[in-house]
Parts: sequence; C-alpha cells; structure tokens
Amino acid sequence: MAKIVRLDPLGQETSVVTNSTLLSALLKNELQVLQECGGRGMCATCHIYIKEGMQQLSPISRREQRTLGAITTCNTTSRLACQSKVLGEGVVVEIPSGMYLGDMNEIESLVGRRAEENILHPIDGRILVEAGKLITRSMISQLEVTRNDVVTHLANSKLV
Ligand code: FES
Repeated sequence: MAKIVRLDPLGQETSVVTNSTLLSALLKNELQVLQECGGRGMCATCHIYIKEGMQQLSPISRREQRTLGAITTCNTTSRLACQSKVLGEGVVVEIPSGMYLGDMNEIESLVGRRAEENILHPIDGRILVEAGKLITRSMISQLEVTRNDVVTHLANSKLV
C-alpha cells in the first residue's frame, strides 16, 4: 500500500510505500539530504518539520528524541526524516532552510563569495555562516575544524 506525502518546499505530492521513511520520500524527489550519520538518527541533516499529520508517523524513539533535543531549531513539530515512517495519509513536510556543512571542497569553492544560504552545523543545526556573509579563508579554516569534529563525533558514536 502507498501513502501520499506532501512536500511543501516543492509544492508537490509524492507517494511512498507504507512504513517507509520520510527520508526516502525526500530522496525520491531529488531533495538533497546530507545524511551525515548515514540514517542512524544521530545528526541534524535530515531534520524536518511536520506541518500536518504527525499522528500518521511512527512514534519518536529515545535516540531520535535525544538528537532532536540537541538541534537548536527543533520545535514540537520536528522529526528526523530517516526515523519517521509513514503509516497513514495526510503528512505534510517542511524542510528547514539552509545547507549543512558537508563536502569541504564544495565549501572552499565559495571563498570570496557571499553565502547564498545559511551554512548549518550538521549535528546541532546552528548557523555557522549566515546567508549573505562573505566567505573568507579564515572562515574556511574554522569550518574545517568543525567538520573534523563532526566526523570524529560520529565515528566515536559508532562504538557506543
Ligand atoms: S540522517 Fe542523520 S539523523 Fe537522519
């Protein structure tokens, strides 16, 4: 059985197999999701807001709750797309704006230009570089440190 999910940023509806995750719905519609933790419910990069139909999703696990608790832009409508399975009709999804700090080569190519959108921390979602700010070399060094911290954090969490 399939269920219809509405993706607000695209203004379009998509069908997903019942019990599949909202992440699969996003990817199917070519929305970029960094999936920094590989879909383990441990990062901010698949954070979404549920505008309607929260009760049509699988319940929030303790791990998801813990991760959401660390995301600065989290509110009562927040979920992690990789952990939210679609059980019923009427789910409407909104994606927070901004891009997560990911591939450093991609970020480095922005040196000397203004950030087109906020660059966000992949674990807690806070803004690292505001949209419109000029991206400098020293900023890149800072971002590199943050990026390495994120990789280390997630690598260590594999051991837990
Ligand atoms: S991809 Fe990391 S929490 Fe979903």
